[in-house]
Amino acid sequence: MKPATIRFDDSTVRYPDSDRDAVGGVSFEVGGGELVVLLGPSGCGKSTLLRTVNRLVPLRCGRVLVDGVDVAQLDPVELRRGIGYVIQAIGLFANMTVAANVGVVPSLLGWSPGEITARVDELLRLVDLDPTEYRTRRPSALSGGEAQRIGVARAIAARPRALLMDEPFGAVDVVVRTALQRELVRIVAELRTTTLFVTHDVDEAFRLADRIVVMRDGRVEQAGEPFELFERPATPYVRELVHAGDDVYRRYFARGRELVRAR
Ligand SMILES: Nc1ncnc2c1ncn2[C@@H]1O[C@H](COP(=O)(O)OP(=O)(O)OP(=O)(O)O)[C@@H](O)[C@H]1O
Ligand SMILES: [Mg+2]
Repeated sequence: MKPATIRFDDSTVRYPDSDRDAVGGVSFEVGGGELVVLLGPSGCGKSTLLRTVNRLVPLRCGRVLVDGVDVAQLDPVELRRGIGYVIQAIGLFANMTVAANVGVVPSLLGWSPGEITARVDELLRLVDLDPTEYRTRRPSALSGGEAQRIGVARAIAARPRALLMDEPFGAVDVVVRTALQRELVRIVAELRTTTLFVTHDVDEAFRLADRIVVMRDGRVEQAGEPFELFERPATPYVRELVHAGDDVYRRYFARGRELVRAR
């Protein structure tokens, strides 16, 4: 399937009972197959912006377009089936096996049991978990890192056109985190899935991103390729955030990028 494009066009969100916009007039585009990282401090509106794409949060004004179509025109259930979504907090369905978790969207889409089983096994291998060992486990019998892998497998099970990831690797240790970052980069490159990835971790953003969108107070501070931000920060805020011009950080970020992108 052709990877989706996602376009924010003056997208603005205000939560009920709030007197300010959580997201204010955001415009940028995520190209087909591109991995864009939303980077910014707690409360700056990253999750809110992400959730406008699958219509978990409504816009006050502006638009979000997936493949040129305003998501407000689309059936939300169908929209969500076509877009993988991974979050840290909610995670997996506790009462279902790993196989049932991974197969949940294919089964909603009416795939045959044989197709689903084959796909589940293929995905478990893709995220480096042995199907015979993990298929029948419950989420309570998984480590944090394993659960995150299953979360990623579930999100891409039905070959979504786009993937939304909200701080998916926050709760795992550095080693597992690097492994998951490598897998993500590999999977996105292989499947050419358009991906919007939220993090507040600058190092993680430099490791993963084709482009980084820096947010602050609900607005886009700067968007560009990682080392473009580093070489030419548009504002003092970005300069400080990415440690612009500091050679030690340049090497550190470059090394991290190499680590997850090495084939
Ligand atoms: N359901 C809600 N109702 C009212 N206000 C909300 C709601 N969800 C978020 N907010 C507010 O909107 C702003 C943006 O929140 P959001 O969750 O998008 O930030 P974030 O960048 O994802 O932060 P974090 O890194 O902590 O997850 C914050 O001021 C937050 O308090
Ligand atoms: Mg958030």
